[in-house]
Amino acid sequence: KHCTAIVLAAGQGKRMGTKVHKQYLLLQDKPVLYYSLQTFQDSALIDEIYLVTGQGEEAYCEEQIVRPYGFTKVTHIVEGGAERYNSVWNALKYVEDGYVFIHDGARPFISEEIIERAYESVQSCNACVVGMPVKDTIKIADDHANVAETPDRSKVWMVQTPQVFHVGLVKEAYRCLMEQEETNVTDDAMVVETFTGHSVRLVQGSYENIKITTPEDLEIGEVFAGKYGK
Ligand code: CTP
Ligand code: MG
Repeated sequence: KHCTAIVLAAGQGKRMGTKVHKQYLLLQDKPVLYYSLQTFQDSALIDEIYLVTGQGEEAYCEEQIVRPYGFTKVTHIVEGGAERYNSVWNALKYVEDGYVFIHDGARPFISEEIIERAYESVQSCNACVVGMPVKDTIKIADDHANVAETPDRSKVWMVQTPQVFHVGLVKEAYRCLMEQEETNVTDDAMVVETFTGHSVRLVQGSYENIKITTPEDLEIGEVFAGKYGK
């Protein structure tokens, strides 16, 4: 089946707080966004890439990233929206069939193994997300920062991307989401869970598949990028 990767790079990086948006910061002399694009470009499973960028950043991405690094699988550069789910939809609405790998451009260290595990899984279940078991104990707080609950750690996963779906299923879910006036969705799996009731399988990601979110992630990212070898 046709496999499309949607790579999201339309965020403002507010928690990073740098003038240059975090997806364009350099790790070992290459932009954060370069790394995941290179892995999708190199994967035989991926046919095409939709890159979602901030308003007015399309030309920058084309000229500074897509062309110089030779990302020939990038067939569309799409303008993102106000929230992550708006950015996803702006690309997803153009994807016609097969499977779609929705990935945060702020997660440079996706690997071919992760793509393969997710592909294997989505063929049988139509909806899966990459994640890892949490290392720390998680507490659920009440409104006054008192502990309300301690979930069983062995059942708690932190979810990463890619989140991979049968295109028809995830588009149906997003169509319902876009009709809502208010929403608090934070990932694609939640959209599918909420609007289709379809189950979503968890697939093993990796502890290196971090999201570059706050300044200390850049120091860790610099180390991972150094052994990335691409
Ligand atoms: N993203 C996007 N469009 C948005 C918001 C986020 O394409 N409107 C992308 C980001 O570029 C990132 C991914 O979604 O690759 C995950 O989002 P996050 O880590 O929250 O990035 P930002 O929204 O940029 O950061 P912050 O929340 O700190 O502002
Ligand atoms: Mg954000």
